[in-house]
Amino acid sequence: MQKLRTIKGTHDILPWNIYKWQTIESVLRKVFASYTCKEVRTPVFERTKLFSRGVGEFSDIVSKEMYSFEDKGGDSLTLRPELTASVARSYIQHNYQQESSLHKLWYFGPLFRQERPQAGRQRQFHQYGIELIGSPYPEADAEAINIACSVYRKLGLKNWELHINSIGSIEARKIYMNVLRDSLHDHKSELCETCQTRYEGNILRLFDCKNPGCQDIMKKHAPSILDHLSVEDKDHFDQVKRLLDAAGIDYIVDSTLVRGLDYYTRTTFEIKGTALGAQDALCGGGRYDKLISDLDGPETPAVGFAAGVERLILAMEAEELFDTDRSSVDLYIAPMDIACLEGITPVVHNLREKGFHVHLELMRRSVKAMMRDANRQNARWVAVVGEQELQSGNLKLKNMQENIQQETSLNEIENILTK
Ligand code: HAM
Repeated sequence: MQKLRTIKGTHDILPWNIYKWQTIESVLRKVFASYTCKEVRTPVFERTKLFSRGVGEFSDIVSKEMYSFEDKGGDSLTLRPELTASVARSYIQHNYQQESSLHKLWYFGPLFRQERPQAGRQRQFHQYGIELIGSPYPEADAEAINIACSVYRKLGLKNWELHINSIGSIEARKIYMNVLRDSLHDHKSELCETCQTRYEGNILRLFDCKNPGCQDIMKKHAPSILDHLSVEDKDHFDQVKRLLDAAGIDYIVDSTLVRGLDYYTRTTFEIKGTALGAQDALCGGGRYDKLISDLDGPETPAVGFAAGVERLILAMEAEELFDTDRSSVDLYIAPMDIACLEGITPVVHNLREKGFHVHLELMRRSVKAMMRDANRQNARWVAVVGEQELQSGNLKLKNMQENIQQETSLNEIENILTK
C-alpha cells in the first residue's frame, strides 16, 4: 500500500519552522502599511479562461504548468498560478475604480504551477506581492520597486541585486519584434527547437533560453530593445531610473529582461538572489497597462510585483538571518498531580484571559520530565505546583533564563510575568 505523503513539489510548513514564515509576514505587514497599501484576498481557484487570456497562451505558465480541471458542472477551473490576473478580475468585478482612482494592494498566498521541482522551485509555493492600480506615471513604477527593495532591506538581506528594463509600449514592441526577427532570420536554423517555435510566436522569449548556442546567437545578433523605444517610453524609463537614484537604490539595466508573462508593457524588473542557485529570481514584476482592459475592464494602467517566500527563506537561511525560535511560553505550570492541576486551573484561566502564554501540563509527566520540557520550550518562568503551594497561596516562580527564583502570591503572578 502506498504511504500517504505530500504530493511531489508540495511541502508541509512544519510547526518548528513556522516562526520563519511569521517573522517574514510580520515585516511584510509593517512595510506594506508604511506605503499605505491594503490587503486583498482572492479565491485559490478561478476560471481557466482568466489565466489563458490574462497571462497569455504562449507563456510557459499557461501552455505547460497550470493545474486545470473540470468541475462537476463542466466548467474548466484552474488553481491560480499567479495573482495579478486574479487581482485584475477582482478589480473589474467589484468596480474598484468607483471607490478610488488609485488602489495600492498587497497579497500573500499559495500558488500552483506544475514545474519540475528542485531547490527553490515547488509546485505549491507562496508569493507576496503588490499591485498599484490606476497610475500611468513612472512614480508608480518606482514606488513598486521601492516596496520590493524595502522588504529585503528590512529583513537584513544583503545578497541581492535589482535588474530593470523597459520592453516599451505594445506599438513600439511590435516594431522591435520585427527588427529582432529580421536580425535573427539567417540564424533561425541554428536555434533550439523551442526557440524556433518562439521565433514565430513570442520572439522576445528567446532572451530567456538557457541553451548556450541560442544565448550566443542572441548576444551576437539581437539588437537592444532599449534602442527601439518610442520617445514617451524612453522618457518614462528615464524618469523611473531618476526616481530610483533619488531613493538611493542601485540597479542594473538589463535589456534582455523580458519576463515570461505576456501582460507587461514598459518597465520590467527582477530582483535576483546572488547567493541562490539556478532558481535565483527572488521577485519579478513590471507595468501592465493593458491587462485590465484585455479582461474587458476599463482602460486602467497598473504596475506591480510578486516575490517567492520559499526562495526568500532559502536566501535568509544562507545569510543566517533567522534568530532561533524564540519561546512564546511566559509561564510553564508543572502540577504535581491532577488534583494540583485542578487547583491551579482558575489561576491559569485568568492569566490566559489576560493574554499571557501559559503552558499547562497535559501528559502527567514527572517534575523532572516537565522541567526538561520547559527548557526545550524555552519557557521564561516555571512554577511547580504542589499541595503546599495551593494551600499557602504562594508559588515559587523559577526564571529559566536567569536561573533565579522568586516567591509570589497567586494574585501577584501577573506582576512578575509583565516585568
Ligand atoms: P513570476 O516571475 O512568475 O511573476 O513570479 C514571481 C516570483 O514567484 C518569482 O520571482 C519567484 O520568486 C516566485 N516563484 C515563481 N514560481 C515559483 C515556483 N515554482 N516555486 C517557487 N517560487 C516561485 C508573477 O507571478 C507575476 N504575477 C508578478 C507580477 C505582479 N507582475 C506584476 N504584478
